[in-house]
Amino acid sequence: MSKTYPIPQHILQDLAVVENELNKAVSAADGVLAEASTATLKAGGKRLRPALVLMSGMVGSYDLKAFLPAAVASELIHMASLIHDDILDDAATRRGFPTVYSLWGERTAVAAGDFLFATAFKILARSEMRSVEIMVKAALDLTLGEFDQMVTAHVIEQSFDDYLRKAKRKTAALFTACCQTGAYLSGAPAAEIDALSRYGENLGVAFQIYDDVLDVAGGAETGKALGVDVRDGTVTVPVLYALEHFGRDSRFAELVATHNPSDEEVREAIVLIGQSDAISRTKETARSYVDEAIRALGELSNDEAVAVFTGIGEFVVDRYH
Ligand code: FPP
Ligand code: MG
Repeated sequence: MSKTYPIPQHILQDLAVVENELNKAVSAADGVLAEASTATLKAGGKRLRPALVLMSGMVGSYDLKAFLPAAVASELIHMASLIHDDILDDAATRRGFPTVYSLWGERTAVAAGDFLFATAFKILARSEMRSVEIMVKAALDLTLGEFDQMVTAHVIEQSFDDYLRKAKRKTAALFTACCQTGAYLSGAPAAEIDALSRYGENLGVAFQIYDDVLDVAGGAETGKALGVDVRDGTVTVPVLYALEHFGRDSRFAELVATHNPSDEEVREAIVLIGQSDAISRTKETARSYVDEAIRALGELSNDEAVAVFTGIGEFVVDRYH
């Protein structure tokens, strides 16, 4: 299993500048807010979103100074959304560390997420208006997608399109925005900005689908507890495929529809998913989104960028194999 993605040396150097800015941003809070925000930053993460902003800037005229606000803001928005998501999921760990919610409680977690979210836009205000517009749309989509997921929890009559609508907003929108912003700020031609937006969206959907697999088939290396989505009644792709496998009037469907299931019921649902064809079908579906993302790269004229983005697509597939 590869834990990192291929990245050119010059981008790696620039990501260190992003990291420095992130450190400055989180430590600007007071007391426990600074502590909680810093702990979230230190807990790691792949910094994939800032990397996407910078690498998308490779397709035109590369200028770190122009890309920096969007790169930093993208990670802050992501961090804010995860802190809030962990409250909604009642999650004890993320990336192998206790969540802000479990360490400091719900009120501090709400405040820390709000602080990081507001800081993201304070920093983004230093960028061009178009870049702000793109990121604002992504932040709105994130919120709408997460809410959609919340109100459709435990509903067994859902289609793959229902899933896709939520995944595109909840996860892929920020990937799309990162690629679109980087390409836009580099002055790339419209066709290449569009191609990278399509790449980002398909990569984001694939990323979310593989993340769904981790919830029911991940090992300790995920740093997250198993079965959080199942307990929440989130109809992820493996759940959707297992529903198709067992039928909507099966024991499995009954478990998905059960609010506040016991640990034993969550375990039972995971075992049933493992007995169905859901995991292998889900991986195939995710792979098809990676392939679609890579196809979009055909529009790009910079070969180094094509190689790097292809490598990231493979990383998304690889990390769970
Ligand atoms: C993780 O997904 C969560 C998201 C991708 C988005 C969460 C969005 C919000 C909480 C609303 C927006 C809030 C702000 C402050 C912008 P997951 O639960 O599938 O993945 P996980 O397994 O990593 O928790
Ligand atoms: Mg979650």
